[in-house]
Amino acid sequence: MRDGSEPRIGVMGATGAVGTVLRELLSDRPNVRYFASARSAGRELDGRVVEEATPAALEAGELDVCFFAVGTATSRQLVPHAVRGGAVAIDKSSAYRMDPDVPLVVPEVNGRRAVEHRGIVAVPNCSTIQLLCALKPIHDAAGLTRVRVATYQSASGAGSAAMERLRAETPDEHDLRMDWTYDGEEFDEEVKLREETRKIMELPDLPVQATCIRVPVVVGHLEAVWVETERRLSPDAAREVLAGTPGLRLDKFPSPARAAGIDDVLVGRIRRDPTVERGLAFLVAGDNLRKGAALNAIQIADLLGASVANGRRVDRSLQTDARVKRAGAR
Ligand SMILES: NC(=O)c1ccc[n+]([C@@H]2O[C@H](COP(=O)([O-])OP(=O)(O)OC[C@H]3O[C@@H](n4cnc5c(N)ncnc54)[C@H](OP(=O)(O)O)[C@@H]3O)[C@@H](O)[C@H]2O)c1
Repeated sequence: MRDGSEPRIGVMGATGAVGTVLRELLSDRPNVRYFASARSAGRELDGRVVEEATPAALEAGELDVCFFAVGTATSRQLVPHAVRGGAVAIDKSSAYRMDPDVPLVVPEVNGRRAVEHRGIVAVPNCSTIQLLCALKPIHDAAGLTRVRVATYQSASGAGSAAMERLRAETPDEHDLRMDWTYDGEEFDEEVKLREETRKIMELPDLPVQATCIRVPVVVGHLEAVWVETERRLSPDAAREVLAGTPGLRLDKFPSPARAAGIDDVLVGRIRRDPTVERGLAFLVAGDNLRKGAALNAIQIADLLGASVANGRRVDRSLQTDARVKRAGAR
């Protein structure tokens, strides 16, 4: 960022499901430009003209922060151009998540890793983000030894086309059609949940088993979680720990409907799992487009801004700049 001036922000994929929420959350910031494919170039959104995200536009050196809310192949193609142009790319796709040189960040969990970036910070999968918001405080309190999770994921997790399809269907047309890749044993979504959890928590051997399902819900993912811990943690103690965690809200009956449209991740129905010695079972619900995507990305940008402000609190300021990148490259 140029000293003393507002960062210049680019939203790649501004017409999509995540891009729409990014636009909403960035609506009070100046210097925001919208980009999408050639199909949408020239369209007007919020009084701004959508531009085509071309390599030349990204390399022009006119952007400080680029939020990428496009598919994985498009991110692979365009992110390097944004970085070459001097921007920090905050990427929502899975293109760079498992790259050892790219921090994969949930600010409440491993925010300190963001400053290690070399131009790219990856945003985890939506189901990983809300899961880790609940797992991290439990790990800090009692040490996780095993995690099992069943997800009930909404259609919007598969993008705006899936949302439209769901809205157009009648209830008896709904099936559990998956947009995920199946290798005969696991969906790629289940592998992502495990591998991303291990990377972010820095627990490379943590046993994590997931079963992921899409359900006919428009926005909001629900997860049923079973954890085992090194030290005993009663449901009451877990409630206390979770209640004191920023970004989490205790809720008696977390559901997608209750989580949709709010920033906090909901956690509840916390109870002992009597089938194991030191086990807990609980539910987690989150808005996959907000904390699961757009909000988490903006929080990362703000974190980078805060880190260059020498500890000064910088709320929603997006002060990501070249100094952060230089620090990350060292
Ligand atoms: N939805 C979620 O809950 C969620 C959560 C976590 C992560 N993600 C990830 O976030 C990314 C975006 O997801 P989404 O759900 O917002 O998808 P989406 O609704 O399908 O939107 C895709 C966006 O990408 C744009 N795009 C497509 N091809 C492009 C190109 N060649 N150049 C520039 N822009 C292009 C589209 O623009 P046009 O309108 O011009 O086609 C559209 O704005 C994906 O990687 C997804 O896996 C999504």
